[in-house]
Amino acid sequence: MQLLLGQTVRFTADPFKTPLPESTIYERRGAVAINGDKIADVGPADDLRQKYPQAEVTEYGDALITPGFVDTHAHYPQTAIIASWGKRLIDWLNSYTFPEESRFGDPAHAAEIAETYFDLVTASGTTTTVSYCTIHPESVDAYFTAAAKRGLRVLGGKTCMDRNAPDTLQDTVQSAYDDSKMLLERWHGQDRLSYVITPRFAPTSTPDQLAALGALWAEHPEVLMQTHISEQHEEIAWVADLFPEARDYLDVYERFGLLGSGALLGHAIHLTDRERDRIREVEASLIHCPTSNMFIGSGLFDMAGLMDQGHRIGLATDTGGGSSFSMLRTMAAAYEVAQLRGHPLHPAQLWWLATEGSARALRMDDRIGTLEAGTEADLAVIDLASTQAIAQRAARAEDIWQAIFPTIMMGDDRAIKAVWANGACLKS
Ligand code: GUN
Ligand code: ZN
Repeated sequence: MQLLLGQTVRFTADPFKTPLPESTIYERRGAVAINGDKIADVGPADDLRQKYPQAEVTEYGDALITPGFVDTHAHYPQTAIIASWGKRLIDWLNSYTFPEESRFGDPAHAAEIAETYFDLVTASGTTTTVSYCTIHPESVDAYFTAAAKRGLRVLGGKTCMDRNAPDTLQDTVQSAYDDSKMLLERWHGQDRLSYVITPRFAPTSTPDQLAALGALWAEHPEVLMQTHISEQHEEIAWVADLFPEARDYLDVYERFGLLGSGALLGHAIHLTDRERDRIREVEASLIHCPTSNMFIGSGLFDMAGLMDQGHRIGLATDTGGGSSFSMLRTMAAAYEVAQLRGHPLHPAQLWWLATEGSARALRMDDRIGTLEAGTEADLAVIDLASTQAIAQRAARAEDIWQAIFPTIMMGDDRAIKAVWANGACLKS
């Protein structure tokens, strides 16, 4: 038994639905007990020290012990081209993304980038990622191999594209189906790994490829499916051109069996009312990628409106269209985007989105994203005074959320004091 001591905040309800303080429990001197790979208990430090006198104690002082962050949409193969200057989505894909992704048939390159990627995300306190790989099965093997080595719970899949991409980066209807199925059978449920069926987005798949992936999903309803939707106006117009028979962007996916409760729909900025209603009806998840949306100039996600409507929403970096590996920076961007739409998100709502809310979007909140006893011991320990700028502001805080907010807005990997994954300390 391990006992980690520090400040803790836990959610007892969704802070978008239940006002504070009823939705949270805060301990100034809290403790999290870990038994093997699971959280065994959580509560006041004095109580848990008495209850578990034999436990090995790690003292984190004033640092905040939180569930590890959950990044619900990333492209690990874009690690090395993050922060590439200029362009709109389609030009950005053609100029930077596709040339780099073309290199991932080389297992050595894929392994090197996967290692770098997991070094960077774990240094940022993220313990679960959901990544697009490339069309190459080697890119999927590299991703899952690197994650398994670190004991991380991660999700991902082979990106499928059979048109509107360079020849070196296209599969076919058959190979997309066969390779996805082979990789799903190889990786799904191994260690803490989950396969995700991954058509990149409507413009880069033929109708036949979308149908083949829809068929694969019907054969494996236990896995999630991820894709992009309604990120930029030019993209939406292109989809309307490519699929004239579809009534809107969402309908393209629905026609081919790619809409359901296990769908993770990335961006979802410019949805029509019909699309919003239909997504709500099938209970698919929307994935908000705020640094990306500002970086590529895509638009302002309607967090408040969609939450009011009852949508299930995850938060994500969208590395490398997103400009950061850090969910702290991503929370800050979500705050800024919501401000531009006239809704200041509370720090508790931001923190919930980066942990439990994102786990819920993945339908994994029974396993990760909380401090609940019985869930997997994936934790981040946050120094709430990691820089002079943050420390001097946090010193004025009158409650825990005022103490956390400067780290959300100004924090980076210097704030991540320790990371635990599956009950083992990865970074300290
Ligand atoms: N739409 C299709 N592919 C991508 C991608 O790699 N990044 C972003 N931001 N949008 C996309
Ligand atoms: Zn993306």
